[in-house]
Amino acid sequence: MEFADVVRTTGAVRRFRDEPVPDATLARVFDNARFAPSGGNRQGWHVIVLRSAEVRAKIRALSLAGYQEYAAYVAAGHVPFSPGEDGRWQQPPGDVDFTAPVARNRFVEELERAPVLAVLAVDLRQLAVTDGDLPRQSVVGGGSVYPFAQNILLSARNEGLGGVLTTFLCRREAEAKELLGLPQPYAIAAMLAIGVPDRHPRKLTRRPVEDFVTLDRFDGPAFGGPGGNG
Ligand SMILES: Cc1cc2nc3c(=O)[nH]c(=O)nc-3n(C[C@H](O)[C@H](O)[C@H](O)COP(=O)(O)O)c2cc1C
Repeated sequence: MEFADVVRTTGAVRRFRDEPVPDATLARVFDNARFAPSGGNRQGWHVIVLRSAEVRAKIRALSLAGYQEYAAYVAAGHVPFSPGEDGRWQQPPGDVDFTAPVARNRFVEELERAPVLAVLAVDLRQLAVTDGDLPRQSVVGGGSVYPFAQNILLSARNEGLGGVLTTFLCRREAEAKELLGLPQPYAIAAMLAIGVPDRHPRKLTRRPVEDFVTLDRFDGPAFGGPGGNG
């Protein structure tokens, strides 16, 4: 595929055809994705492809619990788990009701229907977290693993596959780590669901360049992009 087509059509895919992904194809996906950058090129990632029906079912249950928490925030009109005005972790706002029933999420309820489920973990000892001691939520560490995750999705797209990165499982990290035998210094960065898409996304909704690139200062003049959304 053309590069521009790949990056412009790698949208979230949560519905898959009932077709297996051959091991050779999945291997190629990882083999291309591994050229992702990471701080100091330390490549602290580890991928666990879930094949066991029992493990997949347990991961679905843990993900669903994470989704229910997420959806409770959404139902109350909040950005789920977002830091406060000061940029630090905050307790859930008082109007978030974690006991009320939430909107159903077919994708998570039927997670095992995804032909490929892969948990993406990262060795925290390999991360140079240059903003780790700032008085706000740290973001830099993730930069050493999420480019790899996006490379997986881009490589999957190049193979005619689709997928989505999910983080609901991170809400139940302790249980998931035990289930997967992940050693202590590892964190779960994401879980990826991949397969042959029911339908490929064609037109992604993204902000145009002039909306988010400015010159010299945050409030400087907009730097116009080559075209609008599309
Ligand atoms: C860091 C990150 C976390 C995400 N977590 C989830 C998730 O837990 N569940 C989910 O269904 N999608 C998740 N997504 C997918 C986003 O919802 C999706 O990329 C975004 O809405 C754009 O969708 P589109 O490509 O269909 O336009 C996540 C994406 C990123 C980058």
